Amino acid sequence: MRTQVAIIGGGPSGLLLSQLLMRAGISTVVLERQTRDYVLGRIRAGVLERGAVEMLHRAGCGARLAREGIAHEGCNLSTVNGMFRVDFQARVGEAVTVYGQTEVTQDLYAAQDAAGAVIFHEALNVALHDLEGSAPWVSYEKDGQSHRIDCDYIAGCDGFHGISRQSIPAEKRTEYERVYPFGWLGVLSRTAPAAEELIYANHPRGFALASMRNPTLSRYYIQVPLSDNVEGWSDHAFWDELKRRLPADVAESMETGPAIEKSIAPLRSFVAEPLRWGRLFLVGDAAHIVPPTGAKGLNLAASDVHYLFEALQGAILERDDAALDQYAPRALKRIWGAMRFSWWMTSILHRFPGQSDFDQKIQESELLQLETLESAQVTMARNYTGLPY
Ligand code: APR
Ligand code: PHB
Repeated sequence: MRTQVAIIGGGPSGLLLSQLLMRAGISTVVLERQTRDYVLGRIRAGVLERGAVEMLHRAGCGARLAREGIAHEGCNLSTVNGMFRVDFQARVGEAVTVYGQTEVTQDLYAAQDAAGAVIFHEALNVALHDLEGSAPWVSYEKDGQSHRIDCDYIAGCDGFHGISRQSIPAEKRTEYERVYPFGWLGVLSRTAPAAEELIYANHPRGFALASMRNPTLSRYYIQVPLSDNVEGWSDHAFWDELKRRLPADVAESMETGPAIEKSIAPLRSFVAEPLRWGRLFLVGDAAHIVPPTGAKGLNLAASDVHYLFEALQGAILERDDAALDQYAPRALKRIWGAMRFSWWMTSILHRFPGQSDFDQKIQESELLQLETLESAQVTMARNYTGLPY
């Protein structure tokens, strides 16, 4: 089989890139290791920057997002000293959109189906070949048969555990990592959100987040030790602990109910360089992981796709190979910006093991500055709503 761009991974990065390339008349094949239901079943975050929303509209799959997405013009932060709001609209003239990543992935699949996309699910043992030559190719197995795809370029959109990053010689890779000594226990519940907008809570017992998907579907997280397991947390215990960490008036009035999804996710900051190895380009989680505190995971994947789409369009449609050299520096500048913001949000909002009362006071003072200094709010709002592309 031959295609212009072989895309490894059928998650949001791979599907969005395939949709944009196909709309520009560039052929793609997507290889996904899991089934479609598995990919669609994953519960992930749900806060979109304006840039990501525009990318989805450019890809022709923004209609449902426009109908069902909820615009948030600010968010709340709370400490034991009280809660305050950062008004994104007032500070930087921007808003974010609350719309689940699961919905985004569904919309992308629907658009790809409508475009007649070639997506192979349960494609196993994907391997990349001749990346440094001018005729790379991909091999994979499906239904016990081995297959080959010849292509011009390969986009590695296969997430943190994928094969693409591993296809770059280890001695050529530099990996930057910070692993945080705690995780997030997340619950999805068919209950009304605790507040109009998100609440990020710093509390001596640990971080908490009150988020939502829509007026009847809410998402909550509490910081837990990495040694905890889900079985050890009953719904009752979860709601109790969450209420201790949120402002009292919010806790009193919030609706609770059975968890329809409950899981613990570790927190890490990770970047792998280079993003490009010959004809291979890494995109999204294949190249970087952010802790979810800054809500940057999907948004960074979208900006990577933006830069790679422009580079591939330049190389394929305008025969301008130099465009390819722009991908990595442009994407990395924005990646490190979001990396810093996500690390900062995580550092000021979580309780670190061995953290002293002095450290706690420093966090509260940092948050007091955020509450009282316009300049601090502008910087936070600029980063939260999305650094420019
Ligand atoms: N071969 C084929 N497909 C693979 C392989 C492989 N060897 N390894 C992984 N995959 C698939 C996974 O099954 C998954 O569906 O690649 C896809 C990668 O998707 P994501 O992990 O969602 O990564 P990405 O598309 O970059 O999306 C980034 O997802 O995790 C969130 O916070 C993150 O929001 C961010 C977004
Ligand atoms: C979510 O709604 O799942 C969510 C929102 C904001 C975050 C992280 C997760 O920072």
